[in-house]
Amino acid sequence: MNCLSPSILSADFANLGDQVRLLDECGAQYVHIDVMDGSFVPSISFGFPIIKSIRGLTDRIFDVHLMIDEPIRYIDEFVACGADLITVHAESCAHLDRTIQAIRDKGILCGVALNPATPLSAIEYVLPNIDMVLIMTVNPGFGGQKFIPYTLDKVRDLKRMIDKKGLKTDIEVDGGINLENVERVMDAGANIIVAGSAVFHGDISENVSCFLEKMREV
Ligand code: DX5
Ligand code: ZN
Repeated sequence: MNCLSPSILSADFANLGDQVRLLDECGAQYVHIDVMDGSFVPSISFGFPIIKSIRGLTDRIFDVHLMIDEPIRYIDEFVACGADLITVHAESCAHLDRTIQAIRDKGILCGVALNPATPLSAIEYVLPNIDMVLIMTVNPGFGGQKFIPYTLDKVRDLKRMIDKKGLKTDIEVDGGINLENVERVMDAGANIIVAGSAVFHGDISENVSCFLEKMREV
């Protein structure tokens, strides 16, 4: 299934609750929640209290993208805050398999993210144990960056790997996705689309409708 996952990193934090409600009303299926620790990535975003405060506003999938060192330390807390899907970076886990297991043990969905330069071989053997692969289409750390073109090949190669193994793993893309390139990444094989600035800059409901229109399955 194709799903839009607006990244609230680009939201107006003074009106976060209203904007999350609006995303829900407009039909965005996921809410993408970027957690940054100032170590794995240069910036610091937000953590448990913010996620908890918006959990009651929507039943949409909380898609929590952990850009933090050794996320295994905090899985229980993010689940307690209402995460439905937790994505960890292969680059930030000394023991990726153990981290995946810790997420699965909580009975929620599990994703693994790869930075642009990280090869697909990093997830090849764990692919049957995860629900989603997140291909970073920018270097993680900030919203509003430019899409890196070679990541399209990576999405295509991943789709081939998933099909070859007979799996149904979701492919999420994150970073620099807009109304001009969304069809290209979907043609390459992505089915979960993260968009931050392209959703929150301008008219949110109009932006969400335009994305959903382009993402409609034919
Ligand atoms: C970047 C984050 C993204 C970011 C996307 O490190 O993981 O989710 O919010 O923002 P845009 O769509 O503006 O590139
Ligand atoms: Zn993200």
